[in-house]
Amino acid sequence: MEEVTFVGEALPFEERIELPNWGRRATTIKDYQRYLIGTVENFREFWANAARELEWFQPWTAVLEDGEHPYVTRWFPGAKTNISHLCLDRHVRGSRKNKVALIWEGEPRDEVGNPREVRKYTYYDLWREVNRVAFALRSKLGLVRGDRAAIYMPMIPELPIILLALARLGVIFSAVFSGFSADNLALRIKDLEAKVLITADGFYRRGKVLRLKETADQAASSSGIIQNMVVVRRVGLEVKMREGRDVWLHDLLSAVPPTSGVEPERLESDYPLYVLYTSGTTGGPKGIIHDHGGYAVLLHTTMKEVFDIKDEDVYYCTADIGWVTGHSYIVFGPLIEGATTMMFEGTPDYPAPDTWWSIVERYGVTVFYTTPTATRMLMKFGNDPVKKHDLSTLRLIHSVGEPINPSAWYWLFEHVGGKRCPVGSTWWMTETGGIMISYAPGTKLVPLKPGANGPPLPGIDADVVDEAGDPVPQGKKGFLVIKKPFPGMPSPPTGMWGDPERYASVYFEKFPGKGYFYAGDYAVKDVDGYIWVAGRADEVLKVAGHRIGTYELESALVSHPAVAEAAVVARPDPVKGESPIAFAVLKEGRHPTPELTAELRRWVRERFGAIAEPSDVFFVTRLPKTRSGKIMRRLIKAVASGSQLGDITTLEDEGAVDEVKVAYQEFVKAMGRG
Ligand code: WTA
Repeated sequence: MEEVTFVGEALPFEERIELPNWGRRATTIKDYQRYLIGTVENFREFWANAARELEWFQPWTAVLEDGEHPYVTRWFPGAKTNISHLCLDRHVRGSRKNKVALIWEGEPRDEVGNPREVRKYTYYDLWREVNRVAFALRSKLGLVRGDRAAIYMPMIPELPIILLALARLGVIFSAVFSGFSADNLALRIKDLEAKVLITADGFYRRGKVLRLKETADQAASSSGIIQNMVVVRRVGLEVKMREGRDVWLHDLLSAVPPTSGVEPERLESDYPLYVLYTSGTTGGPKGIIHDHGGYAVLLHTTMKEVFDIKDEDVYYCTADIGWVTGHSYIVFGPLIEGATTMMFEGTPDYPAPDTWWSIVERYGVTVFYTTPTATRMLMKFGNDPVKKHDLSTLRLIHSVGEPINPSAWYWLFEHVGGKRCPVGSTWWMTETGGIMISYAPGTKLVPLKPGANGPPLPGIDADVVDEAGDPVPQGKKGFLVIKKPFPGMPSPPTGMWGDPERYASVYFEKFPGKGYFYAGDYAVKDVDGYIWVAGRADEVLKVAGHRIGTYELESALVSHPAVAEAAVVARPDPVKGESPIAFAVLKEGRHPTPELTAELRRWVRERFGAIAEPSDVFFVTRLPKTRSGKIMRRLIKAVASGSQLGDITTLEDEGAVDEVKVAYQEFVKAMGRG
C-alpha cells in the first residue's frame, strides 16, 4: 500500500472500533456494502423516495432529466418548492410550532464565564421573524424573485433569518465570510451583480469589537453597484449611514404591521437558492450555485443518515455560516428536519478553552459537528477543560473540512465522546452541497476506523480512480470521483454563476467521456470499501479547513509595488493542517528586508483576510517553472514539506529549485537557532 500520512501520522488502515451498544443499527460491513450497491444501482428510486419524505407545492414530472452532459442533469423537473417553506411553514403547522428551532449565544461572558446573551427562537418565532423581514425587504426595497443580494454578516440570529427571508422571496443570495476583506467582498458583489448588501455594524471577536460596516462600505463603493445596504445593529456602534442607500434593519421592520407576511415563492425545484464562492487552482473564486429542491433532498437525507437526527436532539455545528458547512448544516439541514440547532458567535478558546464544552453542557447537546483544526487546537490545552463539564448528553460526533489525523480522532472519541459516541469524518465540498462520504449511523452503524471517511453514503457512487478514470486497486492512492449525479449538485443549467464552460471543464473534463464529477482530492479505498481522503490533488490550500486558492493569494502579492512574481504553497502545520507560505521575486531595485516581509504579510491580510496571511515570505530571484512558463508549485511544496521532488523533467531551470531550497533551509536553520 502506498503510504498515506497526515500531519506526520501514518493512517491505521487496519484498525476497527466496534460500538456494540450504540443504537440497534449495527451491521457487518459486508451487509452494508450489499445495501449500498442496491442504492446506487437504483439511485433514481432511492432519491425519489427521499424526496417523497419532503413536501412539494407541485410534484415532479421526472426524478431526473438526463441532459446531454452530466452537468446539465436536472433533478426533479416540474416540481415546485421553496426551502423556506420546508424549514418553517411545514413545522409551524404541526407539533413543532413551539419547539426551539435556534439557540444562539453571543460571545461576551460575565465574570464567571456565563454568556451575557442567549436568544432562543421557536419555529413559530422564526417563521414570524422571517415573514416580517421578507415583507420589509420586498415592500421597502422592492426585492423580488431573481434579484441578487450579498450578505456580509457575523454569527448572529439575524443571519439565518435573512437567508430564509431571501429564500422565501426567491432572491438569490451570496453569503460572504465576515473575515474576508473588502476586496473579496467587492469581487463577489460584482460577479453576482448584487444590488443589495446586508451587513451589521460590527461583532465581537475574542473580546474585541470588529467594525464590519466600514469594510462593507469600502466594498460597496468599489463595486459601484450596491443600491441599498441593510445594517443590523449588533454592537451598537456609531456608524456612518449613507443617506438614500443605507437603512437599519430595525427601522425597516418598525413599520411592518405584525400580521404582515409573505407566502413563499413557488419555485422550480432547481431554481437557484444561493451562490457560494469557492477557490480553485486557477482564476478567481468560482460561484457555485445550489438550488432549493435537490439541495433540500440531499440535506434531509444526510441529516438522517449521518447525524441520525431526532426530535429530541440538540444539534451543534461549530462552523461559520459564511462557509458551506454553516449554510448546509447550521441553517438549512437542521431546520428542514425540525431540529434544534445551536449557533455560537465566538471562538472555541475565548475566554477559556472550555467554551464549547460549556455550551454542550448548558444545552445538553447530543450531536456535535466540528473540525480537525479546532480539535487539534483544543487538544493542546489538555483534558482538564473537557473534564470540567458534563458531556454525557453527547451521542454522536462528526468532523469536516480536512482529513482528521488519528490522534485528533482518538481525542474526540475518548475525551469528548467518552468512548460511547461514533466519531466520523464527513467528506464533501462546497460543490456537492452536502455530505457524500461518511459513516451513516442513522442508517446502519459499521465499525469505525480512526481517520477514515468511511463508505460512501447510500445513493452516492463515489470511487477512487487512476488518470484514465479506471478504479485503482484497493489500498492504492488515486483521484476521488463521483460517478453518478446526486441531488444537491451544482444547479443546472450553469452550475457556476455566469460560467457554465468553466463548471464543465473544472469538474467533468478530467476524465473525458466518463461523466464523472472530479473532486480534486486524492483518496485511498481500503479492503472494506472505506474511503480515506488524503488531501487536495490540485494546488488549493486548506488552512484551518478553509479553502484558499493559490492564485488568489499570488494575485494579492503581485499587486504590491515591490513584487514581480510570487508563488504560494502550503506547508504542513500541526494545528491548521496547512499554512500558506510565499516565495516572492522582487522587482529591480527592491531588496529583501524583514520590514518588507512584515509588510507583505500585512498586505495579503488586508487584501484577502486574516485567514490567508502567509506565515512566511521567502525571497528568491527566480521561481521554478516549466518550459512553458507555468510555476511548478508542486516542487516548491515538496521543498517546504521536506518530501521528494518527484518528476522534474519538465523543469526549465534546476537552479531555481536550488534557490528555493537554500532560501527555505536558511530559514529552517535560523528557526532552529532561535
Ligand atoms: C477537504 C468543506 C478529508 C477536501 C465542506 C475537499 C476533507 C475540500 C473532508 C472541500 C474530510 C472536506 N476529510 N478532506 N472529512 N471534508 N475535505 O469546499 O479536500 O470548503 O475537497 O467544503 O475539503 O472544501 P470546502
